[in-house]
Amino acid sequence: MTTRVIVVGSGVAGLTTALELAVRPCVEVTLVAKAPLAQSNTAVAQGGVAVVTAPADTAALHVADTVAAGAGLCDTDAAEVLCAEGPAAVGTLIRRGVRFDQEGGRLALGLEAAHSHARIVHAGGDATGAAISSALIARLEGSGIVVRENTTVVDVVVEAGAARGVRLLDGEVLTADAVVLATGGAGQLFPFTTNPAVATADGVAIALRAGAVLADLEFHQFHPTSLATPGNHLVSEAVRGEGAVLIDADGRRFMTEVHPDAELAPRDIVARGIAEQMARQGGAPVRLDATGLGAGFLAERFPSIDAVVRSQGLDWSRHPIEVAPAAHYAMGGVRTDRWGRTSVPGLFAVGEVACTGLHGANRLASNSLLEGAVFGERVADAVLEPSAAEPFDRARWAAPLELDVDGGDDTFGRTDLQHLMWSAAGLSRDADGLQEAADVLARWAPPATTDAKAAEDANLWLVARAVVAAALARTESRGAHFRRDFPLPEPGPAVHSTLVGVRHA
Ligand code: SIN
Repeated sequence: MTTRVIVVGSGVAGLTTALELAVRPCVEVTLVAKAPLAQSNTAVAQGGVAVVTAPADTAALHVADTVAAGAGLCDTDAAEVLCAEGPAAVGTLIRRGVRFDQEGGRLALGLEAAHSHARIVHAGGDATGAAISSALIARLEGSGIVVRENTTVVDVVVEAGAARGVRLLDGEVLTADAVVLATGGAGQLFPFTTNPAVATADGVAIALRAGAVLADLEFHQFHPTSLATPGNHLVSEAVRGEGAVLIDADGRRFMTEVHPDAELAPRDIVARGIAEQMARQGGAPVRLDATGLGAGFLAERFPSIDAVVRSQGLDWSRHPIEVAPAAHYAMGGVRTDRWGRTSVPGLFAVGEVACTGLHGANRLASNSLLEGAVFGERVADAVLEPSAAEPFDRARWAAPLELDVDGGDDTFGRTDLQHLMWSAAGLSRDADGLQEAADVLARWAPPATTDAKAAEDANLWLVARAVVAAALARTESRGAHFRRDFPLPEPGPAVHSTLVGVRHA
């Protein structure tokens, strides 16, 4: 009997899942992407893939770093899966044609914030994601996978409580035995983001409408250093890993006063340190001083960033460049077990759209491409071997918050939504701002899905409401979720939040 699987999304997670499935007997895979395949968060990822390859490094150390960055909320068993299976998954990427940079006959290793070892493998200097994306896309040729680009999935079809296919924008229904959401991130919830235009929270919204349980949506990571010019181009953490430092308007290093690891402290701490410094200097961006690294090294190690910086008329080998935090990565998403299973039978989620609990409240740098590679393989196994299911550790997950998904009559505007989210649910939040945002969003009419952009708008509107509800409900500060009115973490073990949608109208 043939198993038909639909994979939605074309980043490392979706491509890995599809390629893994396609080599199994009696499996028919359709890969659906709303844009050309090369448009994904993966394709713009810079730093690299965190993985244990150095002799002095171990999976246990990688787990310890992941858990320490995650601010008490990581599911250690999921982090253990990531770090233990990482080397094999990177081996698979290499076998599929990804050419990671070498040094002295071995994989070259970079250092990034909150890693105790240099363990970041990279390709093309700072073009790791593009190298992975193009190598995996090339493998689709001859794989037997049916590829549907520029095709918007509006909803998962749920029959008798199980996922049975997807509904497309034009009304066509693709039936399947399993649906895998690998739709990536949600950076477009915010006006300043390192994510590409396709990162519109689609999978989270689709899963919410399908009745799936979501988790940890209040945890959205803000990358400390995006270029403070339109487009918010990412300036990789690896630049700080190589020795660049952050300075204030007077040219003084300020992160040394915030954390003993200064510029290489966990990402949430550096991002907030920058935001606080910006507030002290009237909102002006801080500066990243990479002048000590030299023009030749910057061009060779960071060719993509170098090209972007220079295209803007800046010479970062001679002058510090202005940087500011920007929305970067959703730690929360569709709640899954360690095999990508959601609470809806037949519906799987993998990569940034999923929440395995592995990243906790703050993802460790360069664990996201690895997650897509590791869990893509596991989802492929789980789709075909239902017996591999594992129960959730219920003690770690709160009872679901119920989100009323009906809307009002006011006119929706994407730019309005993004600015509302930045001011109310950005790096620093409080109850008044979040409640006001919740009220405004609830008064907006959900966009009708008349075209692809409107379908994205409907998803952004729904997920913004879920993020705000989750942020309002978590009355503590932890990792990327900082509440001015509750500045400390709750004592005791941290609990993941969960959320489901309900319809009253
Ligand atoms: C970066 O290169 O700084 C981003 C890497 C990541 O988000 O893990």
